[in-house]
Amino acid sequence: MQPPKLKSKVRCTDRDIGQVTKVIMDPLSREVSHIVIGGDGLGQKERQVPISQVQSVTEDAVELRAASSEIAALPPFERDDYVTTHEVEIAHLEASLHHVQPGEVLVPLPVLERDVKRRTFFTNLTHAIGLLIGLPLVYPVLRYLMKPMYAPFDNRWLKIGNVSKIKTEDVGVQFKYKKKVKEAFMPEAEIEKNVWILKATPAVLDKVYQGKDMDFRDSSGKVIWTNKKEVPYVAFSGKCPHLGCGYKWRKHKLLGEVFLCPCHLSIYDASGKVLDGPAPRPLDPLPIQVSATGDVQIIDMEFKAGTKARVRIV
Ligand code: FES
Repeated sequence: MQPPKLKSKVRCTDRDIGQVTKVIMDPLSREVSHIVIGGDGLGQKERQVPISQVQSVTEDAVELRAASSEIAALPPFERDDYVTTHEVEIAHLEASLHHVQPGEVLVPLPVLERDVKRRTFFTNLTHAIGLLIGLPLVYPVLRYLMKPMYAPFDNRWLKIGNVSKIKTEDVGVQFKYKKKVKEAFMPEAEIEKNVWILKATPAVLDKVYQGKDMDFRDSSGKVIWTNKKEVPYVAFSGKCPHLGCGYKWRKHKLLGEVFLCPCHLSIYDASGKVLDGPAPRPLDPLPIQVSATGDVQIIDMEFKAGTKARVRIV
């Protein structure tokens, strides 16, 4: 049987269905393995039909063994699974098909390349090679720029004042301090921060620590300090756990003295417990040490705002 010609009419057992739009060849045997049919009888999509379904081939027509409904039920032809003979060179391939022009013959793409779009495969390959060549040049620059972003937590103790300024138990007292910070790409700067410290009665201490010492950890999860549950001085981060605003110690008409955040009106009692408002968790206790002479030191930590869990970010 002679190979089917392009543009030949295709007839099924029951009716004409379209014409041959492409020829697919097996690059090893150099035989036609499929014909692709398009035409009114198939709608928008072309169909790929195995050569075994071809009953006979004449000068301008191809007769199929199947009915038009069987051909229409075949999966649509996937053009991206094939390359033309413009794109690959296979020796003597077109020599066995005298009636087609170069580019009208298709051969299957290797299976491993089928998940990548035909045209983008070569583009991606070029980019990948460029990246491999350029990486050794840009890596030291990237490492320098990104280093501050991945700096470990700063666990230095900061001296922030003396507890002699606390006159009454269970009353929040604000301690301000300055801290040097280095953000990525920016010069070092000094920022003003604050914590709230109270000398807690045993009842309030019990609410803060729930009968257990409280551990604080570094970025690797290692415990760096433990607040003992019987030490009366408690320090709270100055940032509201809702969205990070600064809060104050205020007198409330119904609740008495409380920590009150003006941004969205979260209210906390002296132990940091949420009494009202949108705050998702109690105030964040910080590591605190008080010396024999009353000097207070804390480790400045910050925690993710808006989450129920206390997740350290600084
Ligand atoms: S930031 Fe404090 S209540 Fe919203």
